[in-house]
Amino acid sequence: MKKSVLDYALKIRLPITIFVIIVAYTLTYFISRPERDGLGYAPEQPISYSHKLHAGELNIDCQYCHIGVERGRHAIIPSTEICMNCHTLANKDSLSIKILTKYYNDGEQIPWKRVHKIPDYAYFNHSSHVNKGIKCESCHGNIASMEKVAQVHSFTMANCLNCHRNAKERLPYLKDVKNGPDHCNACHR
Ligand code: HEC
Ligand code: HEC
Ligand code: HEC
Ligand code: HEC
Ligand code: HEC
Repeated sequence: MKKSVLDYALKIRLPITIFVIIVAYTLTYFISRPERDGLGYAPEQPISYSHKLHAGELNIDCQYCHIGVERGRHAIIPSTEICMNCHTLANKDSLSIKILTKYYNDGEQIPWKRVHKIPDYAYFNHSSHVNKGIKCESCHGNIASMEKVAQVHSFTMANCLNCHRNAKERLPYLKDVKNGPDHCNACHR
């Protein structure tokens, strides 16, 4: 009697248990995989451009390079022309600046890899956030301390809504901040 129960346990229960573990593991893996929330994503860039140096140590304003954040949907990635305002002289003999100069002379833009991206079916607009005084940092983290840009906050719907519903707690530096919208067609148009 005892033996047949053990047999049953090994023949039926064990495979089922293993199956359940594998399924649970696979689901967790796909649900939490980095491509989904983007956390920690920091692709290798064609030139090792450093925000820590330019925005941190040299203290160049974010909007000197990212034109348009206060006017439109997107923050523009600067053209090589903007880099060359300084790099026709600054460190012009270093290897990376020679690569930069070659792109510039060939009339080509640097193929920077995109770091932050939400799906096309969701609507986001920089200007409506930046013009309310929301700092870049609240969504992108302390970029001025990053050698290489990494995504440090997730851009899932849950995270958009978390700030929209708790704007006062999430943005303590803003005195009169209103909550953001949470009806579906604000972000799905
Ligand atoms: C001298 C020009 C320059 C300045 C100043 C600058 N950036 Fe950038 N930024 C770039 C370039 C070039 C890239 C693309 C390469 C990369 O991702 O590192 C970039 C990329 C980014 C990205 C990632 C874009 C993506 O693909 O998702 C963010 C976010 C960003 N910058 C925020 C900031 C913030 C915030 C500041 C100010 C603290 C700032 N930048 C200052 C040139 C600049
Ligand atoms: C409320 C959150 C939020 C704030 C504040 C914010 N960003 Fe973004 N940023 C995003 C999101 C979301 C994306 C991805 C947008 C997309 O995929 O269309 C993004 C993308 C970017 C990109 C890639 C190009 C683009 O626009 O798609 C750059 C560069 C950037 N942000 C720079 C900045 C800078 C500089 C500031 C401050 C002046 C800033 N951001 C403030 C949320 C924010
Ligand atoms: C306002 C001036 C200014 C702008 C604009 C600027 N840089 Fe720089 N950058 C500097 C200075 C100054 C240094 C040198 C700092 C040092 O060596 O102490 C530097 C250093 C660098 C270096 C390291 C060079 C080395 O010796 O290895 C790279 C790479 C670089 N910049 C790329 C860029 C790119 C790409 C852009 C445009 C997106 C850009 N810079 C825009 C001023 C600027
Ligand atoms: C750190 C806080 C914060 C985050 C994160 C944030 N928002 Fe907002 N958002 C706000 C606030 C605050 C407002 C309301 C501003 C006002 O009208 O005073 C707002 C307004 C909006 C609006 C209405 C204005 C417009 O442009 O039509 C949209 C749409 C929007 N957000 C989309 C998004 C999306 C999509 C995300 C996520 C990718 C996001 N937001 C992430 C704070 C945030
Ligand atoms: C503040 C902006 C915002 C609001 C409000 C919002 N969404 Fe979203 N939604 C997003 C963003 C950004 C994404 C893409 C990122 C993600 O998948 O989490 C998304 C993704 C989705 C997806 C795809 C989810 C997936 O797992 O692939 C569905 C479905 C959706 N939203 C439905 C809704 C419905 C229904 C409502 C209203 C109850 C709503 N959303 C309100 C920003 C918003």
